[in-house]
Amino acid sequence: MISPQNYKHKETYVHALFTNIAHRYDFLNTVLSMNRDKHWRRFAVGKCGLKTGGCGIDVCCGTGMLALEQARVVGPGGRVVGVDFCEEMLAKGRRNLAKTPYRNVVELVSGNAMDLPFPADVFDCATIGFALRNVPSIRRAIEEMMRVVRPGGQVVSLELAKPGFPVFKQVYYLYFDYLVPVMGRLGVGLPGPYKYLPDSLKSFPHQDEITDLFTDVGLKNARCHELTGGIVAVHVGTKR
Ligand SMILES: C[S@@+](CC[C@H](N)C(=O)[O-])C[C@H]1O[C@@H](n2cnc3c(N)ncnc32)[C@H](O)[C@@H]1O
Repeated sequence: MISPQNYKHKETYVHALFTNIAHRYDFLNTVLSMNRDKHWRRFAVGKCGLKTGGCGIDVCCGTGMLALEQARVVGPGGRVVGVDFCEEMLAKGRRNLAKTPYRNVVELVSGNAMDLPFPADVFDCATIGFALRNVPSIRRAIEEMMRVVRPGGQVVSLELAKPGFPVFKQVYYLYFDYLVPVMGRLGVGLPGPYKYLPDSLKSFPHQDEITDLFTDVGLKNARCHELTGGIVAVHVGTKR
């Protein structure tokens, strides 16, 4: 059970971390994922059931890359809102979006995933990318996403996961535990943030438990798609 002290402590830590790495976040994502991140985001948005002219929300949107994928689907007549509590990540996201034809489709706003600043039942889908690991309550984040989505809409999470194949798994963890922190330190000039990355995955529930949580909060037809040998998982559930 997360106490209010732990809850606030994690938020403060995560907020400071993303404030420090916002300027290098996109670059390091591309390098550390070996350019797979774009494919993963596209796959996740493909599970949203979004249509041209639709309306989606991306929770913990960071620099706006998953919101941008939604915008490509809804097009100029649609609307996408990205929410994040880190102003530096949002500022980088606004600069990213300004270079695209979707600058008028996506709006990035400040807000907390634990208490989304929107009424119930307003979006066709809600996504969250690489951020369930970072919020103080995973359940609360999923419940909030479910609340703001209309009945029949999709709740979708894209997140790092725990691969199962024996040899692949060992090689991956060598990369993730040893190389990623070194590359991250070289990239941002700080030792902490990219040491946090493997640590945050270790304490994160297995993808099967996240599927169970999707069902437990009341989402219908909860399922998990493992990508790239199971290092990433896309969870999907439908609001009743
Ligand atoms: C790893 S980044 C992911 C960014 C983006 N979704 C992507 O796909 O690249 C995690 C983001 O979650 C945000 N975040 C973490 N906890 C949050 C919270 N409680 N409310 C809002 N944003 C939060 C951070 O500020 C950061 O921008």
